[in-house]
Amino acid sequence: MKFDVICFGALNVDRLYKVNRIAAADEESEILDFKEAPGGSAANTAVGLARLGVRTGFIGKVSADREGRMLIRAFIDEGVNTDGIIVSEYGRSGIVIGFVDERGERALYVDPGVNSSIDFSEIDLKYASQADIIHLTSFVGEKSFQAQKRLVEELPQVSVTIDPGMIYARKRLEELAPLLRRCLVFFPNEHEIKLLTGKDYREGAEILLDMGVKIVAVKLGSRGCYVTDGEKSHLIEPFKIKVVDSTGAGDAFCAGFLYGIVNNRTLRECGILGNFVASRTLTEMGARNGLPRKNDLPI
Ligand SMILES: Nc1ncnc2c1ncn2[C@@H]1O[C@H](COP(=O)(O)OP(=O)(O)OP(=O)(O)O)[C@@H](O)[C@H]1O
Ligand SMILES: [Mg+2]
Repeated sequence: MKFDVICFGALNVDRLYKVNRIAAADEESEILDFKEAPGGSAANTAVGLARLGVRTGFIGKVSADREGRMLIRAFIDEGVNTDGIIVSEYGRSGIVIGFVDERGERALYVDPGVNSSIDFSEIDLKYASQADIIHLTSFVGEKSFQAQKRLVEELPQVSVTIDPGMIYARKRLEELAPLLRRCLVFFPNEHEIKLLTGKDYREGAEILLDMGVKIVAVKLGSRGCYVTDGEKSHLIEPFKIKVVDSTGAGDAFCAGFLYGIVNNRTLRECGILGNFVASRTLTEMGARNGLPRKNDLPI
């Protein structure tokens, strides 16, 4: 089996409670509605890629509980290969519990569960070596971060792409240096690149390129994206849409951009594809609803 992309990141079930108001200590609130959906940044990107016909696998860890089964089932239904997922007999699968009030304010509680306990020795190296690209997203736990770094070291022939999220953007640049040296595409948003480099996105991107990153693709929210490989730089305007729910827009962007990379598109086309796939998920509730298929792509 050969994979274009194997995603490696946290797996969570998202439980979203709509409440009359977010309770403070010693207060009581009412739950008005409840929705549950499989999530996790790398997992959402994997589903986005599979919908576009990219041969996609996954490395991560769940427990043999209801949530673990739900996460794996969702991948199977979407055509993401699950053979790289470690199923632990102990512990809990990752969950995120969210409370949203009527004004849209959110309170989130994350239980990383077994996501935090990935040991390098548990990863199937042969499986990982079948990827052209390994796409990394963040783990809360240090142990799993170290497992990602070790995996990248062990697979010198595989390309690496990274969506740092807030968790890795808070790390020191030196901690990320071994990953950045190997990085084909780095996908921060504007806030994350500023946190990481201390500079605005243009100067920040230069710093990352100097550290060995080949392409920096900065997600700029309602302003689209900025992409650069050191030779060419493009500020690419977004698709005009009415935003319904921004959950997973960044993950969808990565899927669109990586689809472009896998299909040898130009830097500008990759950026347009990222903007497009993100725009489609923004118009529907949930991180995975709205993710387009290959035939829906504009270019
Ligand atoms: N209002 C909008 N209109 C059109 N496109 C948008 C809008 N907001 C975001 N996008 C698209 O979604 C992409 C990703 O959004 P954003 O920059 O918020 O990423 P992010 O902060 O990583 O998101 P996430 O919260 O999912 O991690 C943008 O690069 C852009 O293409
Ligand atoms: Mg993001």
